[in-house]
Amino acid sequence: MQISGSSAVVVGGTGGLGEATVRRLHAAGAKVVVADLVDDAGRALEKELGVRYVRTDATDADDVRAAMAAAEEAGPLRISVDAHGGPASGGRLVGRDGTPLDLAGFRKTIEVYLTGVFNVMRLAAAAIGRQEPAEGGRGVIVNTASIAAYEGQVGQLPYAAAKGGVVGMTLVAARDLSPLGVRVVTIAPGTFLTPAYGKAGDQLEAYWGPQVPHPKRMGRSPEYAALVQHICENDYLNGEIIRLDGALRFPPK
Ligand SMILES: NC(=O)c1ccc[n+]([C@@H]2O[C@H](COP(=O)([O-])OP(=O)(O)OC[C@H]3O[C@@H](n4cnc5c(N)ncnc54)[C@H](O)[C@@H]3O)[C@@H](O)[C@H]2O)c1
Repeated sequence: MQISGSSAVVVGGTGGLGEATVRRLHAAGAKVVVADLVDDAGRALEKELGVRYVRTDATDADDVRAAMAAAEEAGPLRISVDAHGGPASGGRLVGRDGTPLDLAGFRKTIEVYLTGVFNVMRLAAAAIGRQEPAEGGRGVIVNTASIAAYEGQVGQLPYAAAKGGVVGMTLVAARDLSPLGVRVVTIAPGTFLTPAYGKAGDQLEAYWGPQVPHPKRMGRSPEYAALVQHICENDYLNGEIIRLDGALRFPPK
């Protein structure tokens, strides 16, 4: 698939992994719509790169429709990348004092991290499915899970459940969308050092770096973005979850 000349939506596009993806797709010649909730960062990217920012809550149908429509206006929409984050609740399933894990927090985490991805995927698929087919198909949807989908750590149950859901949706979505010529691929990152961590990043790097078999460091956002570009360009990648983790396997704690 040709990135240059296509339009692309990056949900969570002002975040660590999202912004790197915006920059990479922009550099590769895509017309990029940044869909996020951080207006100042979105406007700054508009100014710097000439991309378009559309304030978007991934869990809101109208917001995501508007982001897709903005991208369709800019050119044939062929790429949707979802790298949004948000609050995640956590804690042991039953606390030391016998209190069961909070139900509302679990629901909220599923809403943001699983339902949000579903919402983006379904509206992106409909919009990409409306485009004229290109040589390699109509386009591609890239989701972001986590290695916590496979090795959720103690206290991570709601997040692991949501990310497991994203993993589970990937193949069935690829199958559902095959008649449209739309591919679906999910990236499962290990630990990535992003600007959002600020000063705490040094501590995280010191903690996680030595645990990664090789290279002994956290991942960098451009490494995630490079994989997004490859997924876009490689028409035979479909229905797959790709771990991007330096061979890290999360320990229980
Ligand atoms: N950084 C890591 O180590 C890592 C590891 C595994 C998985 N991930 C996953 O990658 C994704 C991005 O992570 P990141 O490190 O870039 O996070 P980040 O916090 O830097 O960026 C997330 C972005 O999503 C935006 N956002 C939050 N709620 C939103 C909503 N409802 N609708 C639209 N946008 C919303 C935020 O404003 C932010 O810009 C997340 O899904 C995260 O779970 C990250």
